[in-house]
Amino acid sequence: MDQLKKLIELAKIDFEKCETQTELDNAKSKYIGKTGPLTEAMRGLSKLSNEEKPKAGAFINEVKSSIEVLLSNRKNDIQKAAMLSQLEDEYIDVTLPGLKQSEGSLHPISLTMHRIENIFHSIGFDLATGPEIEDDYHNFTALNIPEAHPARAMHDTFYIDKNHVLRTHTSPVQVRYMQNNQPPLKVISPGRVYRVDSDATHSPMFHQVEGLWVDKNVNFANLKGVVQDFLQKFFEDKNLIIRFRPSFFPFTEPSAEIDMSWNGGWLEIGGCGMVHPEVLKQVNINTEEFQGFAFGLGVERLTMLKYHIDDLRPFFTNDLRFLKQFGGR
Ligand code: DAH
Repeated sequence: MDQLKKLIELAKIDFEKCETQTELDNAKSKYIGKTGPLTEAMRGLSKLSNEEKPKAGAFINEVKSSIEVLLSNRKNDIQKAAMLSQLEDEYIDVTLPGLKQSEGSLHPISLTMHRIENIFHSIGFDLATGPEIEDDYHNFTALNIPEAHPARAMHDTFYIDKNHVLRTHTSPVQVRYMQNNQPPLKVISPGRVYRVDSDATHSPMFHQVEGLWVDKNVNFANLKGVVQDFLQKFFEDKNLIIRFRPSFFPFTEPSAEIDMSWNGGWLEIGGCGMVHPEVLKQVNINTEEFQGFAFGLGVERLTMLKYHIDDLRPFFTNDLRFLKQFGGR
């Protein structure tokens, strides 16, 4: 009986050492398991006299229930500690300020392209796009720039292979559009173009917007009117005027460089002309019936003038402090 009584003390010490439920389960089997000392003591009862049996049996049960109480107390303690540590781990300070989502803004070049598209849309122009990897035929030949033509040397071309280039201008979209649509045609095509050129005023990738109007009586005066009207709207300046300087492009005849009035002087912003009959023939448009004009404007130049930016490079270095100033969405 003394030995059994000691078990309570030992169990208490053992249980208190347990930090987890598994440890406690293991410790428990040392005392109340099927092979534990209490079960053994129960079996030993048969050796006692009939008088001793009930007293001893009751005592064993008492010890057993004392140990069970110790066990369940320790179990509660372990559960409580586990819960507290979980609460501590999952603590959230609801008074901390939230993470801010910063709002994006459009790139100034995108803003300019959208402006250009909206203005031309308002005077009835459709929008067309073409591939940036262009074949030799559309980029050059169909635009009246045959192989070995000196004008090919003017375009510092990135060649993909013998027959494919990164388009050097948006003019090939004219050809593609006329191949797929019948006149009358009125379309603009803004997009990326590429040339082997890189310094403070040239980027190997830049943007142009192409314009094309083909109809029965479209003439040079209409060209001048459309371009001037566009620029007045784009710069929100009714007094802005343009002048044409005689020039040469293989795909237009006559051809002109477009200058616009700026700060008391003139600034070149693109090229233009009447579509060359050779180009119309390439796309099977009857030159007896139809004629048209075309123009190509530099989007970076327009953007720099519009937002008073005097360096081309920040457009492509992706410094958000620069890009976010224009605020467009
Ligand atoms: N494609 C010419 C260039 O990149 C610009 C140009 C000039 C486009 C005259 C035209 C045009 O449509 O008529 O230099």
